[in-house]
Amino acid sequence: MKALVVYGSKRGGTKGLAQMLGDALTEQGIEVTVRSAAVRTGDVGSYDAVVVGGALYAGRWHKAARRFVKRESDALRDTKVWLFSSGPIGDDAEPAGEMEPVGHVRAAMERVGAVGHATFGGRLEPDAKGFPANAMAKKMAGDWRDPEAVSAWAKEIAASLA
Ligand SMILES: Cc1cc2nc3c(=O)[nH]c(=O)nc-3n(C[C@H](O)[C@H](O)[C@H](O)COP(=O)(O)O)c2cc1C
Repeated sequence: MKALVVYGSKRGGTKGLAQMLGDALTEQGIEVTVRSAAVRTGDVGSYDAVVVGGALYAGRWHKAARRFVKRESDALRDTKVWLFSSGPIGDDAEPAGEMEPVGHVRAAMERVGAVGHATFGGRLEPDAKGFPANAMAKKMAGDWRDPEAVSAWAKEIAASLA
């Protein structure tokens, strides 16, 4: 069983979640490749499962994740697909697990017939560069990524693939 995990990440937090997910899927006995959603290889159709994760900025998925789903939609329709979003920070992070996908991610799920979606808490580092991230970081820097939530989701994916 082979799975591809791709991520659209601006500041590395979502990349880290993709790597956590990759490790957790590997523990479930799945052969996993983790890479940026911007990488074009033409091999997406060769995987039994594809997971696409995108960082949320101002209510929108990172463009590499958006473009990946658009570009690979034919291949994705023929395989099992899960999407994840990252992620709420500060007070919004606690209920992340119950958060629904934003509108265009929901539309992407429908377009490719995705099995499911998860929202994971995100990360904002204290020295984040660029406006308004630097201003936000002064008020609420931290890491709300939850490896246990990622691991539990990996188990759900593995069970669905078994
Ligand atoms: C300017 C800015 C806007 C953000 N907008 C959202 C948002 O609309 N929804 C959300 O859940 N998180 C939002 N976040 C939190 C990010 O999604 C979170 O920091 C995430 O972990 C970033 O991922 P990355 O490190 O992979 O870029 C925002 C963060 C910044 C700095």
